[in-house]
Amino acid sequence: LSFSVVIPAAGIGKRVGADIPKQYLAILDKTIIEHSIAPFLAHPDIKKVIVSVAKNDQWFKTLSVAQHPKLTIVEGGKERVDSVLNALKTLSNNDYVLVHDAARPCLQTSDIDKLISHARATETGAMLACRVRDTMKRTDQDNQIEHTVERQNLWHALTPQMFNNQQLITAISNIDEQHLITDEASAIELAGGSVTIIEGRSDNLKVTQSEDLLLAEFYLSKLGS
Ligand code: CTP
Ligand code: MG
Repeated sequence: LSFSVVIPAAGIGKRVGADIPKQYLAILDKTIIEHSIAPFLAHPDIKKVIVSVAKNDQWFKTLSVAQHPKLTIVEGGKERVDSVLNALKTLSNNDYVLVHDAARPCLQTSDIDKLISHARATETGAMLACRVRDTMKRTDQDNQIEHTVERQNLWHALTPQMFNNQQLITAISNIDEQHLITDEASAIELAGGSVTIIEGRSDNLKVTQSEDLLLAEFYLSKLGS
């Protein structure tokens, strides 16, 4: 099997609220996106890394990783799903594609290896997720609890999510309301496919709000990068 990676990096990072897109903020020795891409560039089983950046992006090309031979830049789109689809279309149909958010800088090689081993063993896709730890409540519109949700089989979806490229392109293309899709597994689910969860590390956080920057810095300093 042949493995490639898609990195959607065309968001503006509205919720972090910095004056540049969050993936270009530095943590320790390099930018968030460079941390997110590094384990793939170093991985011997990953053939290509396609990064989707915004049309007016002025930052990515200034990074030293932009010159890496495995790396290709494509134009992103309005929603994450558009950015992902543009990148998928540049890859061969038979590839297994791992889609990983530019805003997840703490990914460890061991979690990439779990996905690749799964694909080799089963020739099917899979996604990383971690178990929900807190007690979960469902409420009505007025924040009144309706019930406690059974936590046993609840997971936080993470990335990378890995699928056969042709299967993923077809699944996304067949969705009417593509903008509602926030991850690749949702597209496969809507297409009637089954998706296996592989338990990943809970420190593989997405930098979503400004306080996540400190947490990511803490993890990166402990993990080594
Ligand atoms: N993304 C993308 N194209 C878009 C929107 C998002 O490639 N049109 C990417 C982001 O750059 C990020 C990943 O998708 O790496 C996850 O999205 P999210 O965390 O929502 O990032 P932003 O959309 O940038 O943040 P916000 O929603 O707060 O604006
Ligand atoms: Mg967003």
